[in-house]
Order: sequence, then structure tokens, then C-alpha cells
Amino acid sequence: MTQKVLFDTDPGCDDAVALALALASDEIEVVGVSTVAGNTTVANTTHNALAILELLDRTDVPVARGCAGPLCRDLETAEEIHGPEGITGNPPEPTSEPVSQHGVEFIRDRVREYGDDLTIVAIGPQTNLATAIAIDEDLPATVDDIYLMGGAALCPGNVTPAAEFNFYVDPEAVSRVFRGATPKVVGLDVTEAATIPVATIEELVAEDEPQRTLGAWLGYSEIDAIRDGALAGDQAIHDATVIVDILDDVLDYREVPVAVGTGDGPFRGAIAPDIDGATDDLPNTQVALDVDEATHRDRIVDGIRGL
Ligand code: RIB
Ligand code: CA
Repeated sequence: MTQKVLFDTDPGCDDAVALALALASDEIEVVGVSTVAGNTTVANTTHNALAILELLDRTDVPVARGCAGPLCRDLETAEEIHGPEGITGNPPEPTSEPVSQHGVEFIRDRVREYGDDLTIVAIGPQTNLATAIAIDEDLPATVDDIYLMGGAALCPGNVTPAAEFNFYVDPEAVSRVFRGATPKVVGLDVTEAATIPVATIEELVAEDEPQRTLGAWLGYSEIDAIRDGALAGDQAIHDATVIVDILDDVLDYREVPVAVGTGDGPFRGAIAPDIDGATDDLPNTQVALDVDEATHRDRIVDGIRGL
């Protein structure tokens, strides 16, 4: 039976790879995409989502534009990683438009429509998901699973020493999701371990479309730059790790209480998993702490080659 998946996303190069892998699999049915501000503005993430679907000839998938910034702080973006408009590879101009419904209401209505057949894959800042839970507190209990790409449980962050980008951008949203749901948290502990070799990316950008553009997204760079040897090292495709786990169960999780740093200061967006039961807190997440790297790598590369 296929798994129905709703993407909440801020494409973003690695978001694009995750979406491509899901669309290519006959084990997953992508029922919709809600966009959120994160890697770039929500105008850009919405445009990029439509462009990704255009490239992959899947403009049948509905896209709903979501929140334009965090719940209670200014937006901080990552165009320095993902390119000036938030994605590399120059995907085609979209011929489709987003639906008129706001992304938060789109999430709520897809949950009501699909119930426990639905898995939510939230791979950007959690602003949309937190707001959807705030307007429909039954949402987490209704769906089959909620995956978050985010956090640095037992490893350094990638935007500060303590925090991973998605959780740093909107930590209050993460706190709201942790209070209302028991999500699977797929963080840097596993995504940084399951990288794609430079040589493989260089091979892909030498092939035809769509592999060439997927290679640009794997490298978070333009095709010519990759061909000129710009990649310094193997690449973590953070968001794709969530889809690989849905397909191949490559992650090992621990069900633990996790606190998240809100407010400002050095621990903004940091997470503190109570691995050894130091508190009396009840578990509120399943945190991924180990990954089958070989299976992960093969699924991503084989999935892209099979597009
Ligand atoms: O830290 C990596 C995460 O932040 C990924 O989801 C990437 O797309 C960015 O949103
Ligand atoms: Ca993302």
C-alpha cells in the first residue's frame, strides 16, 4: 500500500531532492506541498516548489503558500547555501500556480481528508505545522506520523554551535510542535553521517536532465561550478534522509524527552534530549541517532538515476 505524504517545505536544494525521491517512488503518494519561509522567502520557496514539480512533470501535485516568517521573530534565510533565489540548477519556469488556500489551512484540510493514512514531512522551519496544530489540536493524533528534519541532538549545529537551521529559524514553533505531537526528529546526528560522494555528484551533472539538475541540488551549487571541481567534500542531503527512512527504515530512533531552546542567546534552537533519564519528563519525540549509511546512499543515488 502506498504511503500518503504531505510535504511542508522551504525549497531549498535538499528539499528538492527529497521531493524528487518521493515523487519517483511507487511506495509514496505525494498528496500536496505547503511552502514556508526558511532557506529563502516564502515567495521564492513557493516558486521553487512549483519549478521542481515542473521539472519532474508533476504539476498535478497541489502547492499551497504558507507562512512568510517565524511566529515571533524576524526571518533569517540561507541563500548563501541554496543560491540567490533559494535553489540552484535553474529549473524550468512554472506553468502552474499555487492553490488559493493558505498553507496552514491546506495542511489542516489534508489531515481531515486523509486522517491516519497521512504522514506529514516537515523539512523547513516548523512555522506552518505549529500554526496548524494551534488551530486543530487533534491534528497530531489524527495522522499516521510526523517527521521533522531538524535539530542537533548530540552533535554540533550548522548555524550556531548549538543549533541546526530549521530549529534555529523558528524555535518557538518547534516548542509548539513538541508540546502537541510526538514527532520523529531527523537531525544532523544522522543527516551529516549519510553523505553523497563528490564523485557521484560530478557524474550526475555530466548526464542528461533531470539527473543534471538533481546533481546541482545534491551539490548545492550550479552545474558549471560542480564540473569545474567546486565541491570541497561529500554532501549531506538533510531533507532526503527523511524520505529514505520512510522507504527503507534506515534510521534508529530513541523515544526521549527533548527540550528546545527558545528566546535569544547561544542556545536558541538547540535541543536537549534526555537520553539517560536525568529528568522525570515524559518522552515527546523520537530522535534519530543512527543511520544505515550505505542503504541511505544507494537509495538516493539509485532513486535519482531512475528518474
Ligand atoms: O539544516 C538543514 C535544513 O535547513 C534543511 O531542511 C535545509 O533545507 C534547511 O531548511
Ligand atoms: Ca529544508
